[in-house]
Amino acid sequence: MSEAVSERAFRGQVTLDGPSGTGKSSVARAVAARLGAAYLDTGAMYRAATVAVLDAGVDPEDGEAVARVVAGARIEVGTDAGTERVAVDGTDVAERIRGAEVTRTVSAVSAVPAVRRRLVDQQRGLVAAADAVVVEGRDIGTVVLPDATVKVYLTAAPEARAQRRAAQLGLTTPGEIAELAADLRRRDEYDSSRADSPLRPAADAVVVDSTDLGREQVVDRVVELARSAVEVRS
Ligand code: DC
Repeated sequence: MSEAVSERAFRGQVTLDGPSGTGKSSVARAVAARLGAAYLDTGAMYRAATVAVLDAGVDPEDGEAVARVVAGARIEVGTDAGTERVAVDGTDVAERIRGAEVTRTVSAVSAVPAVRRRLVDQQRGLVAAADAVVVEGRDIGTVVLPDATVKVYLTAAPEARAQRRAAQLGLTTPGEIAELAADLRRRDEYDSSRADSPLRPAADAVVVDSTDLGREQVVDRVVELARSAVEVRS
């Protein structure tokens, strides 16, 4: 069997968790494309919920108000690795969810348990509809899909993550990079210490440190893990 055929024979779920700035999204999309699998970006769903909260004008730290707004919002995400589709109540927010205001506010919104319950239900429904899917987030291997076929926890040194983020945003001065590193640390701390579904590797996850690896090397490693899972099962 050729390599491409065995990659495409993958059926099941690959979970990709880890902090921001590890290159997780581009790895997840590339892995999904190689496996011919669907792709679900759960961070985009928390970001879309944050758009609803900002537009409603409620205090993002007021958990009850946040839960109420998110319960009433229609959040839609696409599961095609090649195109990004994210909408709130029918309005396309794909660009807006990457903006500074949403990025600043999303940790508070994603820490609200009722928001997580609602989005986790939706995530499980989307996953159930796909034969093969790559799902990226923070709690996918631990909470959303504890029985996933392959679990990967992608990490990297904070400096490497800040450099990568800076390159994406076109920032070059040491001050800007230091600010990004501080923001990453703040979000890590918040995401790892929240009471509900904190960021941590699942006990059965393979931890991949991308500090000294190029994107293609990480993609190869994850595809290899998915392929061995198929071989073990068939
Ligand atoms: O991956 P991202 O940067 O787009 O995620 C945005 C935020 O959403 C991040 O601060 C943590 C949160 N998040 C989460 O709590 N659980 C997930 N499964 C995915 C993201």
